Amino acid sequence: MHEISIKITINEKNYEKSILPNTLLIDFLREELGLTGTHVGCDTSQCGACMVLHNNEALKACSILVAQLNNQEITTIEHLQKDNKLHPMQNAFRNNHGLQCGFCTPGMIMSAISLINENNSPTEEEIRKHLEGNLCRCTGYQNIVKSIEEGAKDMREKG
Ligand code: FES
Ligand code: FES
Repeated sequence: MHEISIKITINEKNYEKSILPNTLLIDFLREELGLTGTHVGCDTSQCGACMVLHNNEALKACSILVAQLNNQEITTIEHLQKDNKLHPMQNAFRNNHGLQCGFCTPGMIMSAISLINENNSPTEEEIRKHLEGNLCRCTGYQNIVKSIEEGAKDMREKG
């Protein structure tokens, strides 16, 4: 298979790379760029551990080829922290024990931020519905929902 050249912006950094056309975004992030905060939890596109942001919406990085994102922009969990301060949604997960093993957490946080980007004051029911694409084996979801409620409030207050 011949390599192709792509341009992609990840976390506000521009990359120009030669890749195999069948390279998944998740493999590119983890193996080519060393951005291992985005996790792989399944091979069936069901767990959501691999979620990143694309145009402010959550995207499963295991389900898209880098070639499909030529000249586009992606944000990963590594880029949420600013000036050594956690993003309000990260803080809210910490404050509310929204994680146990933490494996699902990067995907949960990216998914939560995408929800708040479209609806900055979601109800509990809307949060639970939105999380249908994210699986957690540890927490029972209650504290994740609480975390997202607090994260939404902080994001509203901090603009
Ligand atoms: S790794 Fe499970 S949905 Fe992407
Ligand atoms: S905290 Fe362990 S899978 Fe969610």
